[in-house]
Amino acid sequence: MNNTLILLAACFLLLPSHSLAQRFTTSPAIERKIDSLLALMTPEEKAGQLNQYSGDFATGPGGNFLRSDHADMARSEKVGSFLNVLGSDVVRRIQHIAVEETRLHIPLIFGYDVIHGYRTTFPIPLAEASSWDPRAVELSARVEAREASASGVQWTFSPMVDIARDPRWGRIAEGSGEDPVLGSAMAAARVRGYQGTSLSDPTTVVACVKHFAAYGAGEGGRDYNTVDMSERTLREVYLPPYKAAVDAGAGTVMCSFNEIAGVPSSVNRWLLTDVLKKEWSFEGFVVSDWGSIRECINHRIAPTSDGVGRAAMHAGLDMDMESNAYLGLPRLIASGTVPLSEVDESVRRVLRVKYALGLFDDPYRGCSAEREKKEILSAENRAAARDVARKSMVLLKNDNAVLPLDAAKAASIAVIGPFGNDKENMLGTWSSLGAGSTVVSIMEGLKTAASPKSRITYVKGCDIEGTTTDGFAGAIVAAQNADVVILVVGESRGMTGEASSRSQLDLPGVQAELVRAVAAAGKPTVVVLVGGRPLVIGGILHQATAVIEAWHLGVEAGNAIADVLFGTYNPGGKLPVTFPRSVGQVPIYYNYKSTGRPFNDSVHYTSRYFDLPSTPQLPFGFGLSYTTFSYGTPRLSVQKITANENVVVSVDVENTGTRKGEEVVQLYLRDDFATVTRPVKELKAFAKLEFMPKEKKTAEFTITPEMMSMYDLSMKKVIEPGTFTVYVGTNSVDCREAAFEVVQ
Ligand code: BGC
Repeated sequence: MNNTLILLAACFLLLPSHSLAQRFTTSPAIERKIDSLLALMTPEEKAGQLNQYSGDFATGPGGNFLRSDHADMARSEKVGSFLNVLGSDVVRRIQHIAVEETRLHIPLIFGYDVIHGYRTTFPIPLAEASSWDPRAVELSARVEAREASASGVQWTFSPMVDIARDPRWGRIAEGSGEDPVLGSAMAAARVRGYQGTSLSDPTTVVACVKHFAAYGAGEGGRDYNTVDMSERTLREVYLPPYKAAVDAGAGTVMCSFNEIAGVPSSVNRWLLTDVLKKEWSFEGFVVSDWGSIRECINHRIAPTSDGVGRAAMHAGLDMDMESNAYLGLPRLIASGTVPLSEVDESVRRVLRVKYALGLFDDPYRGCSAEREKKEILSAENRAAARDVARKSMVLLKNDNAVLPLDAAKAASIAVIGPFGNDKENMLGTWSSLGAGSTVVSIMEGLKTAASPKSRITYVKGCDIEGTTTDGFAGAIVAAQNADVVILVVGESRGMTGEASSRSQLDLPGVQAELVRAVAAAGKPTVVVLVGGRPLVIGGILHQATAVIEAWHLGVEAGNAIADVLFGTYNPGGKLPVTFPRSVGQVPIYYNYKSTGRPFNDSVHYTSRYFDLPSTPQLPFGFGLSYTTFSYGTPRLSVQKITANENVVVSVDVENTGTRKGEEVVQLYLRDDFATVTRPVKELKAFAKLEFMPKEKKTAEFTITPEMMSMYDLSMKKVIEPGTFTVYVGTNSVDCREAAFEVVQ
């Protein structure tokens, strides 16, 4: 038996020292260049730098999204940036106008939503977060950057790091789930992947952390909806991932559509200037969300475009995406309504990012038809997408070790369900230029992986939505004639993402009935769940023999799922978000407050529902493997410390099974008593470790003073004396405990 001591390095813990080195910073030399440029610029030219316009979705991608007036706009210097204008040819053409046919030759910056793949579509971000593997996420972002930069994209509107505690919200698919520490690790990894070690490298793109802030907390899970929360919750739960992305070097930030406590983010000076630019020392620029300045008229902040534009400028919103609200700036400067200093500051920030990208030296920044050909959808990129997709799946149930399938014994496989032969939906939401034709379907993946002697049949059974059960009979016959059933059900990609909130979390249409009917055929039934949010799956977990959460996995979905089904890869993902038992439990999350009447399902007057258990269907951090792990009791380096000392936690973890596998060791902490109520537990660190069969490792974590700190009544960060409980385990519920005390 092998006993290895694993020292968990800062990369999992996101210590500030790790990220600081890579922050987006300017230099005296760049500031001097900007000073000279600002001195030459007219108010019109300055305002132009702060406008961003979109290409036309109706004409792309074949038409490259170009609008007939783009060339004139670039020539007239009324624009500092385009989004959705891409393709090396087009970008070179428009950029040429900006740098050759204008008075000051200032390059444009071209942005695009490269969220989880440019052409090689990776798993949706919620799936990637299920890997709990920052290296995998960094790799995904790196590939995205290489492909997009070849096509002239210099700026991606990613990472989306909004914490989401409400799966009704469609955009939960675009983020990393409910937890600030996991979310921060993913946010930083994505920034590192996009930006590499230097933005002057033409294979990088500058990141844009969004949507600042708390966009995921809209009431009722409705998109764009009102957010009202305490500054404590904002700072403890929602802000950390944005901060982590900024600390990792993100050069731009996008503000959110929503208001927080009465102030829409686009005009929130406290958020954009006091917190982001001053407190966090952010030196890059802030872009609005699409039309979000104009929407402040609907928020009823001011009745005119000039009115909301002025408020946004004063708040520190540097670039206007598609509101036309900064067109009036020259006039407002002339009338003294907007101070020139505010406009200068925003232009300075935009120019900083353009300098950092090297656009003044090479405005085309390595985009070319040759690079597009070489980078896009390369075999290497597809291999990376397959690997990340395998890591993104979570095994939720595996009775009788039905998985992995034995290729020899599973001579006959029935693939059933509306997603079994589907390509398009595997792409998930916000799939950029991803195309269904490039996707490997589950049927294709299984056929490639199975033994040539296997008989694999496909029956759809029912549509994704709709009420007809006419296809059930065929599905049941197929199941009866098979050795094993792979039942692929879930949500289409259009049911997730922007403006796709749902009021129900059940499987759409008659899919739940299909699962019941097929499982009743009595054959081993493996449900593969497709989708972009936690669904209510109590029935499925009960009826199926095995269940895999496969989310929307991208171009290599079918191959990756086959790898897991046949055991070429042993799944090790964990849920980045709690699965509720019913939509009525939402919002439900693991780091809740205990209340004065902590729930107890057998005691009436406690904080619970009387019609269902108070616990979730599946807890945050949950995920099985084809092997098993046992945990020892955590050992602490000291029992008593003062507030500026660390505690080192060691725990023995053993692979008690016969297969190689990975386990995400999770460390949670509770401040037992405090002047302000604390969550029942909070994730503080994690490590994904690989184990050979029967291998034992000792995981070691350092609990730092930062991890023990909290905001006190006056919103000062403090460490209060008293006891802390340490939990180490395989998910947020199944943990072993230890305790230490902070003394004065
Ligand atoms: C979305 C952003 C996106 C922007 C540009 C908006 O509707 O909220 O996430 O980056 O459009 O496409």
